[in-house]
Amino acid sequence: MRKPSTLLIDVSTIGVRDPGPATEADLQEAIAQVEPAGGQIVATKVDVRDYAGVEKALREGLEKFGGRLDVVSANAGIFAFGAELVDITDTEWDEVVDTDLKGVFHTVKTAGKLMIEAGNGGSVIITSSAAGIKGTQNVGAYTSAKHAIVGLMKTAALELGRHHIRVNTLHPTSVRTKMILNDAPYKLFLPDVENPTIEQFDDLFVQMRPIPVAGVESEDVTNALMSLASDEARYFTGAQLKVDAGFTLR
Ligand SMILES: NC(=O)c1ccc[n+]([C@@H]2O[C@H](COP(=O)([O-])OP(=O)(O)OC[C@H]3O[C@@H](n4cnc5c(N)ncnc54)[C@H](O)[C@@H]3O)[C@@H](O)[C@H]2O)c1
Repeated sequence: MRKPSTLLIDVSTIGVRDPGPATEADLQEAIAQVEPAGGQIVATKVDVRDYAGVEKALREGLEKFGGRLDVVSANAGIFAFGAELVDITDTEWDEVVDTDLKGVFHTVKTAGKLMIEAGNGGSVIITSSAAGIKGTQNVGAYTSAKHAIVGLMKTAALELGRHHIRVNTLHPTSVRTKMILNDAPYKLFLPDVENPTIEQFDDLFVQMRPIPVAGVESEDVTNALMSLASDEARYFTGAQLKVDAGFTLR
C-alpha cells in the first residue's frame, strides 16, 4: 500500500511579528512526527504571498510523490489586532490581507490546477475563523480577510465542482496555539485589566461560549479537517464548518 504522503509548506523562520511564524525547531518537530506515524513528508520553506514559490514547491513535492494531490489544507495565517478600522495603517492591512487572503488564493489556485491535471478530484480545506462569520472589534484586517476567503471558497467550490474537487472552510473559535496564547490577545480582550493573565482570559471566554470552554484544541480543528477530507464527506462542498463551541451563535 502507498504510504500517506504529506507536502508541508510553511514560511518558517522569517520572523515578521510577535509571536512570529513557525521556527526551524517547529518545522523539524512537524517533520519528525510524520515517518513514525507511517507517512512520508516533503517540507519546503515558502512564503504563501509568493505565487511562483508556492507553485514551484507544490509541483516539486508532487513529482516526488508520483503526481497525485488528494487533500490540501490552506492553513497559513497571521493575526493582527489592536486598532479600530479608522486607525489601521495600510502597512498592517497589506501584511494581513496578503497572507490571509492572497496567500489562500495562491494555494487554492495552484492546488486547483494540479488537482485538475491529476484528474482524481480532491478536497481543499481553508482555515477561516469565527472572525470569518461575525464581526470582531479591533481586528479589522484579519476579520475582513477571514470573511473574504469564504467568498473565495464558494467561488472555487462552484468552479472546481465539475472536476470533483470539493472546497470548504473551517471556522475555529480561539485555538490554544501560540497565535492566541500570548500577552497581546489577553490585553485585547481585557483592556481594563493592567496585567491580564491566562486564567482571566480563559474565564472571559468560558462565559462567552454556549459550551463553556476556554477554547478548542488543535486536535479539534484537525478532526474537523480530517472529516472534510474523508470520502464520507464526498458531497460536502461550499460548506462553512464551525469548530467554535457555539461561540458565533451569540
Ligand atoms: N489560534 C487561533 O485561535 C485561531 C482561531 C481561528 C482561526 N485560526 C487560524 O488557524 C490557522 C493556523 O493558525 P495557528 O493558530 O496554528 O497559528 P500559528 O501562528 O501557530 O500558525 C500559523 C502558521 O502559518 C505560518 N505562516 C504565517 N505566515 C505565513 C506566510 N506568509 N507563508 C507561509 N506560512 C506562513 C506560520 O509560520 C505558522 O506555522 C490560521 O489561518 C489562523 O488564522 C487560528
